[in-house]
Order: sequence, then structure tokens, then C-alpha cells
Amino acid sequence: MAILVDMTGSESRLDAIKTDFKRLGITDPVWLPGEDYDPASIELVLAWKPQVRDWSAYTGVKLVQSWGAGVDHLLDAGFPADWPVARFMGQSLKDRMVRYVCAQLSNWQLDMPRLVQAQNEKRWDWHDGRWGEQVLILGLGELGQSVAESLAVQGYKVSGWSQSPKKLKGVESLTGKPGLNAGLARADYLINLLPLTSATRGLLGSELWARCERQPVIMNVGRGASLAEDDLIPALEVGQLSGAILDVFETEPLPSQSPLWSHPNIWVTPHIASISDPSDVIRLSIDNLRQVRAGEPPRYPVDLSREY
Ligand code: GLV
Repeated sequence: MAILVDMTGSESRLDAIKTDFKRLGITDPVWLPGEDYDPASIELVLAWKPQVRDWSAYTGVKLVQSWGAGVDHLLDAGFPADWPVARFMGQSLKDRMVRYVCAQLSNWQLDMPRLVQAQNEKRWDWHDGRWGEQVLILGLGELGQSVAESLAVQGYKVSGWSQSPKKLKGVESLTGKPGLNAGLARADYLINLLPLTSATRGLLGSELWARCERQPVIMNVGRGASLAEDDLIPALEVGQLSGAILDVFETEPLPSQSPLWSHPNIWVTPHIASISDPSDVIRLSIDNLRQVRAGEPPRYPVDLSREY
């Protein structure tokens, strides 16, 4: 078999990824778009915003493995409808997301930038902290569930909003519009982990902010386009929100002229909340290929016609 690794934006990592395959004992040829390979020999496609658009010569593909948990980058990739597609998921991805969310919540509560500034100036800047107990997680997929359960263990009062009800230890499950309204009204922190679909594009916008009653902080670790960026600064200015911790953006890298960079109550990080561990993605892709060859569905299957 042969493997195609088609990942836009990760060009500097591709040689290392090829080496990872070898290190894991996979001796099958690994190709990058533009190299001299026979498309018909490709059985496994590892993809992140793939650049190949015409798949008609790829007659032997058995599996498309997304490099990330999100699959919005695959929706317009033009794959034939019968190709099995799987998302990446695993313990390392969950752990990294949990660590980012917990770190940023703590950083916000301690006002860490203020403390760093104070240390730079050798000032003993004691302050009360900015606490808050009520967290609403938007989206209870694998990552949302891990975050929700971890925050509950830490003593937060956690609710999670999802399409279907979920049973999670210490987490209140909310569904539908009434559930969302109830969660928004009491939240001190909103954490977005919804997949990007036509239903969630721009969902985090003025209509939602108008239903918040406790000036929450919004943390976006899902997808940038779920947040209506133009509605954010107005919501901060009128006090519907008190801050935004953003790791994902509609355009990445975030353009230097974006006002988000310089607002005092917006923190920007460069889509770093939960990075896929290459070895874990490769291992899952090979296991999944084995399953598909055996006539079984891959782990973490995706239905692109449902957008997630
Ligand atoms: C990262 O954004 C992912 O989809 O895993």
C-alpha cells in the first residue's frame, strides 16, 4: 500500500512526519502532494485542509484519516461519497485540551498578565483574583466531555449543552433552546467546543451575548468561524461579556490588522490548545485502515454529509 499525507499549512513538519512513520515501523511508501507517485497506489490519505482536489485517479483509497478532531476542513475536499472518513481522537488530544482550558481559566482568574507585568516592574501587586464557578461547555463531544468532567472534579459547577442529552459525572446536561438559555443566564465562563457546521457558523454572536446575565468570559477552543468576530468587541464594550480567550480564528494565522490582537480583554493564542500528536494520529490511521480492510468501520467515523 502507499500513503498520501496531504496537509496544508504544515509544510515545515512534513519531513518529520515521514520520519515518524519509519520510527513506528511503517515501511510502506509515504508521499506528499506534488511528488512522483501513482495515485492509484494510495490506500490511506492523511489529510488536513487537503490540496488535492481531483481524486478521480485515486482508485484504491480505503480510508481518509483527518489529522485533527475537527473535520470542517474536509467538507469541500471533493472526496467520493463512499470513502470512509475518520476523525483523529485520543487520550493525548483530550489531555492537551483539558490542560489548555484549565491553564487559561486559572490564568484569567489570577489575571496572570497583570502579575507578569508586576514582576517585570518588581511590584508586589496583590489582588483579589477574578473568580467564578459556573461553566457552560458548548458541545459535549469527546473533547467537551473530557473538559466538562475535569472541571467538575476541580469544583466548578459545570453544565454542558449538546444536541442529545449526555450522562456525565458531575455535569448537568442541557439541550435545546431552553437549555441553552438557562446555561447562558448563569454562566461565568463559556467554553466553545462545538464542531463547525452550517448550524454553528456564527452561533457565538450578539443574540447569544444578549442572553448572558453574569458577564461571562468566552473561551473559544472549537473553531474560529463559530464566533461572529464582529460582534465580539461590541459585546465586551457594553459589558455583556467581560473577556475572550481565543485560540481559533476564522482566518488563521490571525491577520495583523485584526482588532482582536490589541483589545485589553481579549487573549489570543495561535491554535495551540490541543495539538495532534503525530505518532498517535499515525497509529490510529494504521489501525483504522486495518479495520476498514477487514470490513469494519474505522474508529471515530465521520459522516461528511452531516458535517461532523
Ligand atoms: C484541531 O483543531 C483539531 O481539529 O484537532
